Amino acid sequence: MATKRISAAMEKALNTQMTQEAWQAQVYLSYAAWAEENHYAGISDFLYKHAHEEREHMFKILKFIINRGGKVKVDAIKAAPADPKDLGDCLKKLLGHEVDNSKLIDQLTDLAHKEKDWAALNFAQWFVKEQVEEETLFGNLLDKYVLATTKKEGNANLYEFDRDVAKAPQETAVPQEEKF
Ligand SMILES: [Fe+2]
Ligand SMILES: [Fe+2]
Repeated sequence: MATKRISAAMEKALNTQMTQEAWQAQVYLSYAAWAEENHYAGISDFLYKHAHEEREHMFKILKFIINRGGKVKVDAIKAAPADPKDLGDCLKKLLGHEVDNSKLIDQLTDLAHKEKDWAALNFAQWFVKEQVEEETLFGNLLDKYVLATTKKEGNANLYEFDRDVAKAPQETAVPQEEKF
């Protein structure tokens, strides 16, 4: 596209959010590795997939910048945070990261609105909806974790564990055969 149809401020904000999504992917990747190292196979698989999703968000923004005639700036990504203390801490921190990211998306949406950049507003609104989904997803996971680890009547944890084992596949992928 020959003409630039985003402001310098919007271009900067989009590039910043693009790097932010790349960082989010690093956060999920590091927590996924931590989960796998701690033998939470289901959680780690879920988090690896989510790291891919955050990379997709990064790509969406990259493409939008180019599509609107802007310049993409691939910047340094800050290091992933330290390992969580335990699974509860992991889920709490992930929800916190999503809530923080939602605030940044809100700022981007606000800028689009102030600039009357309706194309950017429409684009940003996809992320507003996405963040509602992600906050719900991690909020629900945290709720389930609290349920599973809080003292309950009977042996509900064992019941759930047994149910999970019943659903577990008989075969498991090895790194040499996996597609990443
Ligand atoms: Fe994201
Ligand atoms: Fe996210």
